[in-house]
Amino acid sequence: MQFLFHFALVLSVVLTSALKTLDSDQELQDSGFGQPPPRHGLKLLVWYVQNCLDNNMVALCDPTRGEYGFHVFQNRGPRHLLPVIKDKKQYKYYTIGNLHAPHAEDLPYEVRKYYNRSDPESNQDRVLVIYNNNNKHIDEIYASAHYKAKETYKIGPNLLASLRQPIGLISIEM
Ligand SMILES: *[C@@H]1O[C@H](CO)[C@@H](O)[C@H](O)[C@H]1NC(C)=O
Repeated sequence: MQFLFHFALVLSVVLTSALKTLDSDQELQDSGFGQPPPRHGLKLLVWYVQNCLDNNMVALCDPTRGEYGFHVFQNRGPRHLLPVIKDKKQYKYYTIGNLHAPHAEDLPYEVRKYYNRSDPESNQDRVLVIYNNNNKHIDEIYASAHYKAKETYKIGPNLLASLRQPIGLISIEM
């Protein structure tokens, strides 16, 4: 029993730390995240970075008000998808990208255009953020194919800087 407990503990640590960081356009492309259509994740990620963050990482889209379909991501389960938050009053995870969620229709057409209710692939991608309720900052950004650990990535600082460029490798027209 104790062995099993330890085994589970070690396993969970390994699985938690397995979350990959993407830190360049190339790594993002190679990951396959959010593309090709009907997947919408890549457009969603680019739109989010370019429209919902200022240069100091202050949130311009308020996740707490459900804008664009944002809602709380609980990060529950025996294997937490994302790092466990200790101060749950100050920090929360929020998720965006479910095109069926209330207010998701406010997302740009570029992001929504391949949505097909009969095709789950067209609605599997999410962008997750950790939001600091005290100073309204976004502290971390993740990209995920429907919360599958193997297809969930942390967005590194260099990739973030690159995505901010209006004319990057991955450009988006709104
Ligand atoms: C929507 O998805 C279903 C199931 O994959 C497919 O049969 C249908 O052709 C798709 N509709 C459009 C408009 O692409």
